Amino acid sequence: MEQYAIKGGNPLVGEVEIGGAKNAALPILAASIMTDDTVYIDNMPDVRDTKVLLRAMENIGVVCRHENRHRVMLNAAQINDLVVEDENIKKIRASYYLIGALLGKYKHAEVTLPGGCDIGCRAIDQHIKGFRALGADVRIEYGMIKTRAERLVGSHIYMDMVSVGATINIMMAATMAEGMTIIENAAKEPHVVDSANFLNSMGANIKGAGTDVIRIKGVSRLHGTDYTIIPDQIEAGTFMFAAAVTKGDVTVKNVIPKHLESITAKLQEIGCEVKEADDCIRVVASKPLCHTQVKTLPYPGFPTDMQPQIAVALALSKGTSIVTESIFENRFKYVDELTRMGASIKVEGNTAIIDGVERYTGASITAPDLRAGAALVIAALAAEGCSTVDDVRYIQRGYEDFHLKLQGLGAQIELVESEREYQKFKLKTG
Ligand code: UD1
Repeated sequence: MEQYAIKGGNPLVGEVEIGGAKNAALPILAASIMTDDTVYIDNMPDVRDTKVLLRAMENIGVVCRHENRHRVMLNAAQINDLVVEDENIKKIRASYYLIGALLGKYKHAEVTLPGGCDIGCRAIDQHIKGFRALGADVRIEYGMIKTRAERLVGSHIYMDMVSVGATINIMMAATMAEGMTIIENAAKEPHVVDSANFLNSMGANIKGAGTDVIRIKGVSRLHGTDYTIIPDQIEAGTFMFAAAVTKGDVTVKNVIPKHLESITAKLQEIGCEVKEADDCIRVVASKPLCHTQVKTLPYPGFPTDMQPQIAVALALSKGTSIVTESIFENRFKYVDELTRMGASIKVEGNTAIIDGVERYTGASITAPDLRAGAALVIAALAAEGCSTVDDVRYIQRGYEDFHLKLQGLGAQIELVESEREYQKFKLKTG
């Protein structure tokens, strides 16, 4: 079984190229089936989640061809099945985007219910409410969500909570509904805006994405496009915190600094120097880190997907810090693992109280989910001695070449497949 072998203690130094945003790529891939014309998508991250979605799309007749590692050509003119039952698709949360896309175009979709990271109850009631408001019949049967409509008609939809997935899903279906749809209390994340921009580049009429009211005037047909996905805000943020935690000096390249403002602000608060340029950000951590408070919130607040990474930094910072998780209720599963490395953290409900310690020490740890897995790798890079991180498949869901990019910054990290390989790594790294 693959695991990361890590020898900590080196400050990370250098430049790292950030890839396309996974959470934009997934809805954009799904939306590409809404036209019979050919679609080209650039800056596609080569991660497990996008591969799974692409395979599920191929299984229903979509033609997918990689022009290079990050550019894909898609044509959905020959879709032959509106039932998506792929064994793997239930492992990714974003499978639900195929519902909005297929429902919008064909007025019928049946998709295995989504999975994804086990970070708390991940209801889809808001998606269902939106589809019903557009006139679709929606049923959950035999582990599938089944939707069908005679016609979809625009509607005024008020979201009970801010949901990225529901906002994008309803937006996709409404793109090919008759008349105007208004989504109130919409999510404002950069990937919501990117999904809207992609649909607009195919001929959709969506206004207001990035604000909390999105207006969609339905169109009867979408056309082909050539589109480039935005950089991954969370991948960038993860490397920025890796710089902080290892007392390093890292420049993340190919980013949109505006999307990283909440992350930048917290790094400055805890004592890092952050320098922004047009499309890169440099994080220098030359001083000891200090404590702060943080609460996860929908964009432009501090992202829940960065919560474990900031906690790993705060657990090495002077003083007591408070981290409040307000989006998912089960997102502190990494705390036990971090404790094994020497952290002092007490979790009460949705709050973690962190007493900063001087150092981490290496341990054998397990990645509980995607972002927490990445955060634990960063912790191991800061720790004294060697660590192993198991269940790296979670990390590979959302980070392309994670260990190679870290190696490029001077990290001693390798993907090993056996105890023998790990012992060899230990010998090599002293
Ligand atoms: C997306 C991201 C995920 C990120 C999350 C919040 C993808 C593939 N995943 O997940 O990485 O952590 O946004 O930024 O893009 N909720 C409901 N009912 C619904 C929908 C959501 O109660 O119908 C709740 C959820 O349980 C959660 C909150 O709303 O507490 C936010 O969830 P949502 O924004 O929908 O997250 P995802 O789109 O699943």
